[in-house]
Amino acid sequence: MEQTQQQIIDYYNEFYSTEGFRYYAPEFTTAVLKSLCVKAGIQPGARVLDVGCATGYYSAILASLGYDVTGIDISATGIEKARALYPHIRFEVQDATALPYEKGSFDFVFALGVSVANTQDLGELHTWLKHLTGVLTPGGTLALLGGSRLTGAVTESSDWFNHTWKDIRGFVPPWAAQVRGPWLTHFRLMRALPPALSMNALTTLLMRWIPMGFQRRVVLLIKNDS
Ligand SMILES: C[S@@+](CC[C@H](N)C(=O)[O-])C[C@H]1O[C@@H](n2cnc3c(N)ncnc32)[C@H](O)[C@@H]1O
Repeated sequence: MEQTQQQIIDYYNEFYSTEGFRYYAPEFTTAVLKSLCVKAGIQPGARVLDVGCATGYYSAILASLGYDVTGIDISATGIEKARALYPHIRFEVQDATALPYEKGSFDFVFALGVSVANTQDLGELHTWLKHLTGVLTPGGTLALLGGSRLTGAVTESSDWFNHTWKDIRGFVPPWAAQVRGPWLTHFRLMRALPPALSMNALTTLLMRWIPMGFQRRVVLLIKNDS
């Protein structure tokens, strides 16, 4: 059963005031995000929106790569912690389905593991992706990233729905003219291999052969052409 927005807020407020996420080391994550930004063609100094930024870990790494970052999350506790941890970065409590930013506010929207994408309703997902591209500059890029074990079932510990490969192909909105991916990859591959090798059709094919329960990363790049 999909959670209501209030359940999501309550869950993450509690989670961030207790344990919070464990992340790969900063050097590792820096290499992963650098690889993604190269693949997505993000220029130095780009204005980046980190959607569902949690306590700001990815925002901070994107900022360390020289981007002008705004992190947003619907969890006030997450944002409070992010501000305390990384006072040099702009963080705001915002609902990613009702962003207040004007068209052209950002060059890159980075949306990793945001609960809004934790849905089986692909039409709803497409509507949300349209909303996210609406804050981009013409030619700007939206990167949708998530995790999936490809099982078509919910992981009980995280309540995360594991989209099948068919679902993941269906992430591509019918209105999007310039799309790259979706690819299946893994952060370890993104760190170890050049971007052209870690995010492509062949790697995706290989990742589909790995047993279902293995957690892959999904990467989808959508260019705003309006
Ligand atoms: C699985 S966590 C991922 C957080 C972060 N991107 C990361 O990878 O560490 C999902 C995040 O999405 C946030 N979120 C859920 N619904 C949201 C919404 N409508 N607007 C903004 N953030 C939302 C949650 O509060 C939570 O911080």
